[in-house]
Amino acid sequence: MSAPESTPSVSPESSTVHKAGQPLYQPPRIAVLASGRGSNLQALIDAIESDQLSAQIAVVISNHAGAPALDRAAAHGLPTRLMPRNAYPSREAQQAALLAALQEAQVSLVVLAGFDRILDSSIVCAFPHRIVNIHPSLLPAFAGGMAPRPQADALAYGVKIAGCTVHLVTEEIDAGPIIAQASVPVEEGDTVETLSARILEQEHRLLPLAVSLLLAGKVQLDGRRAYIRP
Ligand code: GRF
Repeated sequence: MSAPESTPSVSPESSTVHKAGQPLYQPPRIAVLASGRGSNLQALIDAIESDQLSAQIAVVISNHAGAPALDRAAAHGLPTRLMPRNAYPSREAQQAALLAALQEAQVSLVVLAGFDRILDSSIVCAFPHRIVNIHPSLLPAFAGGMAPRPQADALAYGVKIAGCTVHLVTEEIDAGPIIAQASVPVEEGDTVETLSARILEQEHRLLPLAVSLLLAGKVQLDGRRAYIRP
């Protein structure tokens, strides 16, 4: 007669693979850089809080004291860093501090959500294909310039369709591979404000979606073309 099969015994201690309060799965850490209003930051926060985006915002960095983006971050208990240009002896020093802050936060993605400074190549190179920007035009049209300049230029040019673009950041401004775009109609009687508001609504949908695709590894690059994989 063979010995009864032994069932592996698992003591409560040995089955405890993590400590209480420390989930096994830690969503990827991202940094959000925002200079002003912060409505795109808010869209990311809302998407995370409603489980539509699996990410944790490790740090929100602004270069402007009093930026509403910082208040939004604080209201959700997110770590913030204020790094204004005048706190550093040079632009290079500010950029070096920014790079250090991003590295310290151990983020796998940097999101430019209305950040009004161009990143140095040292930062772009430190996060290859790991920095995204949202721009309020259908790139490559109306590249460069901060909101509401692209919207105003689109309106003045007389385009019938406007929109927004989420793209990877490269050393060339607003010229990295396009991850996602959304279009809106330009209506008769539109002002810069009404057109910007229509575009902004799409930005708030597009940015969390693009971040989610990137973090899930669903974006495959072939040169400057980005393909979304299932
Ligand atoms: C947005 O229109 C974004 O596309 C552009 O700057 C604006 C930032 O708005 N890069 P907010 O600060 O996110 O509300």
